[in-house]
Amino acid sequence: MTIEFVEGAVFFVACNKQDDMTSNHSKSIHIVMSTMKFPDDFLNTIICGDSLSVMQQMPDNCVDLIVTSPPYNLKNSTGNGMKNGNGGKWAGAALVNGYSHHDDNMPHDEYAEWQYKCLKEMFRLIKNDGAIFYNHKWRVQGGLIQDRMDIIRDIPVRQVIIWRRKGGINFNPGYFLPTYEVIYLIPKPDFKLVPKANAHGDVWEFTQEMNNDHPAPFPVALIDRIISSTHAQIIMDPFSGSGTTAVVASGLGRNFIGIELSPEYCEKSKERIERNKKHSEIAKLYPATLFQGIA
Ligand SMILES: C[S@@+](CC[C@H](N)C(=O)[O-])C[C@H]1O[C@@H](n2cnc3c(N)ncnc32)[C@H](O)[C@@H]1O
Repeated sequence: MTIEFVEGAVFFVACNKQDDMTSNHSKSIHIVMSTMKFPDDFLNTIICGDSLSVMQQMPDNCVDLIVTSPPYNLKNSTGNGMKNGNGGKWAGAALVNGYSHHDDNMPHDEYAEWQYKCLKEMFRLIKNDGAIFYNHKWRVQGGLIQDRMDIIRDIPVRQVIIWRRKGGINFNPGYFLPTYEVIYLIPKPDFKLVPKANAHGDVWEFTQEMNNDHPAPFPVALIDRIISSTHAQIIMDPFSGSGTTAVVASGLGRNFIGIELSPEYCEKSKERIERNKKHSEIAKLYPATLFQGIA
């Protein structure tokens, strides 16, 4: 692997690895020139490259928390929802076009194998008191439930959190409107929440993000809930998209590492991180704090 430093907080990374599971489904990007060193080249940086290849460059037990939502492979579908271009019943209808550099349409077994490898690598990277919050979506394909256990396999899940989204319009008379996703909490043995965070329960209601032109962004409030519930100081998102995890981590005074394949999304994340230094998106979640110290 070679790496080229590109101005500011974005690295462009490319690889010619034979085992890159995404290669037929992702457009290739820059050729790389040097080697990245942890932590200096990683902390508070959006690294533009293949997540598995970048993670493989990182040492064991080096991050406190991973919060991520991988591509769901939604275009690999037995129904018409994501194939016929109308986006089906999910609010994330923008995904009918896939992502800018990933088609979201891998053969199912290949996809599950790729995601399992990514999760194993994430698990290697978290410290003994660290955790992974892995967001995914259950669905039914050809009459069979995909509960993602073909991805999780032997990786130790502690809890499944339900993220209840707001509903949209359901055009399909044969289905109730789907309104939830799941978040697997996958900790190492010494992981603990901050005091009182356990009171949140395991069903969380957050409206999907509206003011973000990425096809599948996290709501800022959801990531704020996760990060604020932990003591984590180094937080990584290996599928960082529009940079929501980075923006929230940084707004809460923590360090971030983002990895994203699309140079376009990397560049937009970088601009978003800069914008947040002046106009913080998480400050909008806490309007009361604006008045602190005035009384
Ligand atoms: C569900 S989106 C993540 C959105 C993110 N949570 C946010 O708030 O914007 C998944 C992202 O994974 C990226 N991606 C796809 N394949 C990748 C790969 N091999 N390595 C790194 N990123 C990849 C896609 O470009 C997409 O932006």
